[in-house]
Amino acid sequence: MGLTQRLVKVLVGSIILLSVTCRSRSWKHDYGEALSKSILFFEGQRSGKLPPTQRIIWRKDSALQDGALLIPHHNHFSHRKVDLVGGYYDAGDNVKFIFPMAFSTTMLAWSVVEFGKFMGPDLKHAIDAIHWGTEYLLKATSIPGFVFAVVGDPYADHNCWQRPEDMDTPRPAFAVSRDHPGSEVSAEIAAALAASSIVFRKFHIGYSSRLLKRAIMVFDFADKYRGSYNDSLGRWVCPFYCDFSGYQDELVWAAAWLFKATRLPYYLDYIGQNIHNVRNFGEFGWDSKDAGINVLVSKLLMNSSFISEPFNLNANKFVCAVLPESPSVSVSYSPGGLLFKPGGSNMQHATTFSFLFMVYAGYLKKANKEIDCGNKVIASPSRLKRLARGQVDYILGSNPLNMSYMVGYGPKFPERIHHRGSSLPSVNQQPGHMDCEEGSFYFGSPNPNPNLLVGAVVGGPDIKDSYTDSRADYAHSEPTTYINAPLVGLLAYFKSNPS
Ligand SMILES: *[C@@H]1O[C@H](CO)[C@@H](O)[C@H](O)[C@H]1NC(C)=O
Ligand SMILES: *[C@@H]1O[C@H](CO)[C@@H](O)[C@H](O)[C@H]1NC(C)=O
Ligand SMILES: *[C@@H]1O[C@H](CO)[C@@H](O)[C@H](O)[C@H]1NC(C)=O
Repeated sequence: MGLTQRLVKVLVGSIILLSVTCRSRSWKHDYGEALSKSILFFEGQRSGKLPPTQRIIWRKDSALQDGALLIPHHNHFSHRKVDLVGGYYDAGDNVKFIFPMAFSTTMLAWSVVEFGKFMGPDLKHAIDAIHWGTEYLLKATSIPGFVFAVVGDPYADHNCWQRPEDMDTPRPAFAVSRDHPGSEVSAEIAAALAASSIVFRKFHIGYSSRLLKRAIMVFDFADKYRGSYNDSLGRWVCPFYCDFSGYQDELVWAAAWLFKATRLPYYLDYIGQNIHNVRNFGEFGWDSKDAGINVLVSKLLMNSSFISEPFNLNANKFVCAVLPESPSVSVSYSPGGLLFKPGGSNMQHATTFSFLFMVYAGYLKKANKEIDCGNKVIASPSRLKRLARGQVDYILGSNPLNMSYMVGYGPKFPERIHHRGSSLPSVNQQPGHMDCEEGSFYFGSPNPNPNLLVGAVVGGPDIKDSYTDSRADYAHSEPTTYINAPLVGLLAYFKSNPS
């Protein structure tokens, strides 16, 4: 290669580099605005009696009779009545699935534990969002020996396009018990309560200890009566939130949060004895907690030589399975740069994985470590942050369609999200009762949804970066609480560290 050729090559190289830098610079996102909106979304998902402080005002009270009329054969449960009012609708329907509700609460709490110091005035709202979750998880576990896992008939509900305020489909409640266990849902509730107890410790010590006490009790129940709610509740949870990855991961995950909250050696021993059951190092979401366990425990044991190594190694493997330049990468990326894994609601992977990257980057930086992925690929903490930031920017509009995937953020965003409340005329506009069938007209309408579910992040584009914005296409157009919950922490960080 001659000198001129080499010079041209270097020049072209720097021009490409320059244009990449310019492009990333031309996207100026208002992370603070996105943060406020990402939290506001949770108010739109509220079930039960809404408080006077409710800010999404097209939503009203709903499901005020939940738990009032129980059918014993449904839930291995002898009581006739229990207060199950409140909680969150997980997505665009009106069922309360407590397994993903608990995971979303855990992730909101983790967002505050790690990044609450960057939230400013939004910290108060983030804590309210956690509190709405914990109040419900306390109700779902109020009777020793039982844990409520589902409220609402998912088949009847999914056949109706109806506002939550009008719901007239049956509202059975399904519990797991000692004889019909559900260790995944119970342990995830324990994790959520333990993580939330850390959040409340600073603001409300009494409430914090109450959460922690319940977490300990529910964890004991989950551990002592082992089994999957798949088997105990069957078609009421599968195929909706079927537990594919088993309950072993939730048990260790709950133990890790309980160790973080109590520092009791019992939980550390438990982790050490059961960690061999946690092997899907590349997975993290409402079903599999594995990569989250490794990242969380790496931090807890950062300065101890005791059993810290396998967690670090597995957390490193997770990073190397996600980084696009890594020889062991096992996820895909769209041409526009969005992380992809098979299945619907892909944006959940972009937000949960990015969250773990940000948290782990912080730990690595403190420990002054980098990750060797092989083939001379070294992942530094700043590389991890850049990946997370790229995913967040994509969600906010730095993508080939120049489209934000957060409702109400930026000039272009999804207008026909798969969400009953958002797509039907609100009670303010149309106070009369609308029944199950009346909603079909609005479901099929080509018009934008009348009510903005501000802050909702949808399942997102396909792997070619295109998006059809169709209500019927729920795999892409439905928002969920577990897409948003980790995003809350990410946006808080980038709000205070924009470059
Ligand atoms: C739950 O059910 C699904 C679908 O039937 C199955 O693939 C999975 O292995 C089950 N999980 C457990 C822990 O039993
Ligand atoms: C580990 O030690 C470092 C330096 O001594 C300290 O800054 C850090 O907070 C410690 N981390 C934990 C998790 O204890
Ligand atoms: C997105 O914005 C860029 C930069 O402003 C522009 O060049 C491009 O044509 C836009 N793409 C679409 C699909 O609007």
